[in-house]
Amino acid sequence: MRAILHARYGSPDLLRFEEVAMPVPRDKEVLIRVHATTVSTGDCNMRNFTFVTSSMLPMAKLMFGIGKPWKERILGTELAGEIVEAGKDVERFKSGDQVFGSTGMSGGGHAQYACLPENAALAMKPASLSWEEAVAIPFGANAALYYLRELGKTQAGHKLLIIGASGSIGSAAVQLAKHLAATVTAVCSGANVELMKSLGADTVIDYTKGDFTKNAETYDLIFDVVGATTFDRCKHLLEPQGIFLSCIMGLDDVARSLWTTFIGGKKIRGGVAINSPERMAFIAGLAASGKLKPVIDRSYPLKQIAQAFKQVERGHKKGNVVVTVEHP
Ligand SMILES: NC(=O)c1ccc[n+]([C@@H]2O[C@H](COP(=O)([O-])OP(=O)(O)OC[C@H]3O[C@@H](n4cnc5c(N)ncnc54)[C@H](OP(=O)(O)O)[C@@H]3O)[C@@H](O)[C@H]2O)c1
Repeated sequence: MRAILHARYGSPDLLRFEEVAMPVPRDKEVLIRVHATTVSTGDCNMRNFTFVTSSMLPMAKLMFGIGKPWKERILGTELAGEIVEAGKDVERFKSGDQVFGSTGMSGGGHAQYACLPENAALAMKPASLSWEEAVAIPFGANAALYYLRELGKTQAGHKLLIIGASGSIGSAAVQLAKHLAATVTAVCSGANVELMKSLGADTVIDYTKGDFTKNAETYDLIFDVVGATTFDRCKHLLEPQGIFLSCIMGLDDVARSLWTTFIGGKKIRGGVAINSPERMAFIAGLAASGKLKPVIDRSYPLKQIAQAFKQVERGHKKGNVVVTVEHP
């Protein structure tokens, strides 16, 4: 099969499009013919630590490799495709099932075929969605759901401010927050104001036209998806028991998070949104009912993945960048 191999840090042009051995499913794994994948910010972090804070960089290098990756690998945190073989102990899926899901830090999506355990964050693809539409959902929605539901305990009637609402996580967060019956103020650039309204945001603030931290409104939750601000700059915008959720934590934020949990009052929370099959099932249900819509900036063929990485690493994509995988 053809796959994109990652063996060196540096420019995306170092990625290699090569013939490699087909993966073979174990007893509890499925083999998936991949039709679409994405370049996510997670891929960029594993490829070249693009969005990793400087205080977290040493830990990230320990995980992925100091100087060069610990081993040559295939990236790709999301995939949509058809199951072509199921291991002998697989019960959840069968050959022919059309699925989509997250591979997380294991990667593997940037290839014509991938193996995943049957208990991975994998669900049946809604028939109403194309491969490209389906694959644009899991990464952002998994992280958004983890932050809003598990860390923020979002409830009906909560007032939310979502900063960086136009990206992968942000566009899912706006929709999920509305599903949880919260009131949403989305912060984005002028080009994305209409998109935010179409996803259900109650109020939209164009950050290029003014500083939202100077507004008088207060919130139960402030979700900074892109590291655009800080807990200190936003503290006065939080309700007395309000929570500042941060997708990009430095070591100082981790310390503040522990401290604010200990002393009570306004808190800062963050963490790693590890994949969860339960979250994926919830996300698939919302996608099937049309309550969670994919947002796609543009798509690239697999052989042009370096261009896709370059776009994502500039940090301005709208929703998701999709990669289509052809089969002769
Ligand atoms: N903690 C976790 O478990 C976890 C999981 C996944 C990802 N992450 C991290 O979360 C971050 C966001 O991921 P993502 O995939 O959602 O990113 P993304 O899709 O690349 O988000 C980019 C979006 O943010 C907007 N933006 C850029 N600067 C902004 C600003 N100052 N204010 C408001 N909006 C701004 C951009 O539009 P404009 O430039 O037009 O404004 C663009 O639409 C990444 O750093 C990623 O590493 C964390």
